Amino acid sequence: MERLTSPPRLMIVSDLDHTMVDHHDPENLSLLRFNSLWEHAYRHDSLLVFSTGRSPTLYKELRKEKPLLTPDITIMSVGTEITYGNSMVPDHGWVDTLNHKWDLGVVKEETGKFSELTLQAETEQRPHKVSFYVDKSKAQDVTKELSLRLEKRGLDVKIIYSGGMDLDILPQGAGKGQALAYLLKKLKSEGRLPLNTLACGDSGNDAELFSIPDVYGVMVSNAQEELLKWHAENAKDNPKVIHAKERCAGGIIQAVGEFKLGPNLSPRDVSDFLECRVENVNPGHEVVKFFLFYERWRRGEVENSEAYIASLKASCVSHPGGVFVHPSGAEKSLVDTIDELRKYHGDKQGKKFRVWVDQVLATETNHGTWNVKFDKWEQSGDEHRGCTTTVKFTAKEGEGLVWERVEQTWSEESELKKDDSSWII
Ligand code: GLC
Ligand code: MG
Repeated sequence: MERLTSPPRLMIVSDLDHTMVDHHDPENLSLLRFNSLWEHAYRHDSLLVFSTGRSPTLYKELRKEKPLLTPDITIMSVGTEITYGNSMVPDHGWVDTLNHKWDLGVVKEETGKFSELTLQAETEQRPHKVSFYVDKSKAQDVTKELSLRLEKRGLDVKIIYSGGMDLDILPQGAGKGQALAYLLKKLKSEGRLPLNTLACGDSGNDAELFSIPDVYGVMVSNAQEELLKWHAENAKDNPKVIHAKERCAGGIIQAVGEFKLGPNLSPRDVSDFLECRVENVNPGHEVVKFFLFYERWRRGEVENSEAYIASLKASCVSHPGGVFVHPSGAEKSLVDTIDELRKYHGDKQGKKFRVWVDQVLATETNHGTWNVKFDKWEQSGDEHRGCTTTVKFTAKEGEGLVWERVEQTWSEESELKKDDSSWII
């Protein structure tokens, strides 16, 4: 987060399951559309926040299964745990505020008396969150009765019903909304209050996000009954909250457009962009475009044409030749690498094959020379692997950005770390 010294242009605070992630879309298309939009137009000056009900354990599992970007801030366990950056540094200040009128032992004791409640997995029981499953038909009565009993025991708790099955008990001061309010206050005190904030959700535990002042909100089209009911009763007249027509991440992109928060055309929705090479002088965009082309080339979704290859070669520095350092350590010329890529046209046709880039950050080293650092991920079948990548670009008069040097090393999380042979770039 420190990389931003001025107020972020946009802060997106999004739930994951059934909001950022569409579990009904095995192709993850709307998520991939969001990813390329974010990396191309927002990463450099905006903040991405994930706010999930999942514990750190289940959050990390989801990251392995789905093409999720790396957020700047991660709020987990229904707003009871906040962490920052890639290494997920916990916010201890936030945790301290949650002990007010909270006693885990008492919550466990009282809930144990309800036969309607089924305890969730051990990983989902957290210091400030106790979670159960409960039948829809019994949720309201149980919630009422439980609140009374815990109040009698001197606690002040919040009980949230989500997804028509999950019941979470949290300290009154916790929850996704309170965590967002805390974050906004913190950013403000640092002089980095976002110019706009957009909250995105689909279920009961997201409702609070939509009652934070000055925050735009989108309930994705597939929002749960309990959230729509909450909205009808509490926020119907708030023009800053919409119910999107599109599912999941598609609804987030739609809201960015409707509220005019910035660009909302995902590079994935552009079919042919090699043509506009000369006008484009944004190095981050160049990277997003190239790897999208690479995916389409291998999926056989772009024509196998010499013009494409020639255009790619023309975008590499020729004298002395541009260099590519493969993750194996081998050095090749960039032009040879493009020649090699030519042979792979359509090799992933009809197969599960997707490519995305994460944390694209460009820095101008000298006037007209750029270093772009990012992670390039590739999903082939059910395997994900990724490389930390650096690209050096030079802006050349009339030619746009020219690729000078690409260097890759296997990322730590990569599953097939040493399989060098099947990695092209
Ligand atoms: C996630 C959590 C679960 C919680 C639910 C609703 O699924 O894993 O513990 O009950 O979100 O907040
Ligand atoms: Mg959800």
